[in-house]
Amino acid sequence: MQQEFSLAYATTADNNDPLQSFREQFYIPHLNDAHAIYFLGNSLGLQPKTTQDEVLKIMENWANFGVEGFFMGNNPWMQYHKKLLPSLSKIMGANEHELVVMNHLTVNLHLLMISFYQPTAKRYKIICEAKAFPSDQYVMQSQIKMHGLKIEDCLIEVHPREGEETIRHDDIISAIHLHGAETALVLFSGINYYTGQVFNMKAIAAAARIAGAYVGFDLAHAAGNISLQLHDWDIDFACWCNYKYLNSGPGSIAGTFIHEKHLSDTSLQRLEGWWGNDESNRFKMEPRFTPSPSAEAWQMSTAPMMQLATHYASLQIIEAAGFDTMVTKSRALSSYLLFVLNAINENGKYFTIITPKAANEHGCQISISVHQNAKKIFDQLLPAGIFADWREPNVIRVAPVPLYNSFKEIFTFAQTLQTIFTNSHV
Ligand SMILES: Cc1ncc(COP(=O)(O)O)c(C=O)c1O
Repeated sequence: MQQEFSLAYATTADNNDPLQSFREQFYIPHLNDAHAIYFLGNSLGLQPKTTQDEVLKIMENWANFGVEGFFMGNNPWMQYHKKLLPSLSKIMGANEHELVVMNHLTVNLHLLMISFYQPTAKRYKIICEAKAFPSDQYVMQSQIKMHGLKIEDCLIEVHPREGEETIRHDDIISAIHLHGAETALVLFSGINYYTGQVFNMKAIAAAARIAGAYVGFDLAHAAGNISLQLHDWDIDFACWCNYKYLNSGPGSIAGTFIHEKHLSDTSLQRLEGWWGNDESNRFKMEPRFTPSPSAEAWQMSTAPMMQLATHYASLQIIEAAGFDTMVTKSRALSSYLLFVLNAINENGKYFTIITPKAANEHGCQISISVHQNAKKIFDQLLPAGIFADWREPNVIRVAPVPLYNSFKEIFTFAQTLQTIFTNSHV
């Protein structure tokens, strides 16, 4: 069907959408006594209607069995985390034993860098994207300082070229070739949080491998958004949060991947705690650590059950929808969003789309850099019933997601934005 900036086109696309009914499984925020258009799945995914019940089941087990809830009832907590792994392994392209759900994203990135960034006199550099998410920059900088090294000697940031917004893939690979012999770690995001650019993780991993460096990814904006094959791409480690595209709630428990080739590598450094000890003798309280034969060896503390429950509730919906079907719809939504944005932009008069246009170089999120009165334009969206987000100095990010957004919402958003731009230029 030929794309059109029309309500008729959007309605037909919605009617042909196999995931249309999934929207009813989420609480959609209200503004102005109507359902709002929520394009902030890149920030905090919406609450599934099943989440509260799933948490309640944990609360009931706690009420009924106290600490024995770990072993008693129809859903013993000791085994609960295993229920998350089948769907998570499909979303991440990983084997179940390469995954562990624990802590929070920034904490996990620190823990993984302890394992995968052990600089030596010869290899001490980290190659990363310029303007990585601030938390990642602080992690890398503090890890370098912790080793008694200087940030300026160790951190190699790959920048967009002068006058460009996104980083050229060739420049990333060239930087890895150039610094390869001194590089300990290549650390990128899967999708840059600001521009929405998807990095070619497979090619970056292959180049890092040839250079003899470890490679890791922060997948905060990629997990649950685009197809990933972490195991096959031979990535050493990855971490992500589950509160964006994985709808598991504000500050929810995060995810970690460690490639199976590292699971029995005793030369890796690791911070350890009792919940990473092999389940078979965890409660024998032995003085020596017996690592779990999986990524769980990196887990340190008792699993937070209420958080696992919110994550599980959301993963069940994704499992029912089918992640591949979600990705297909997501591509159609973002393609339509790009189309209608171009339709209202009067040859680039109002804004520049800074997200790459190629389908394999973006996910749900499209970022626009507004030429004039950017904040004033943005501030009119919420009163008009549209949740989008703002990034200094002039960027508006929107992310229609496949489980609860529609083509009609994209049409309405574009129409509203068109009116705002037109009125602001009279
Ligand atoms: C790319 C990226 N990295 C790291 C973080 C920090 O996550 P957390 O606060 O869960 O540690 C975020 C949060 O949005 C993010 O988008």
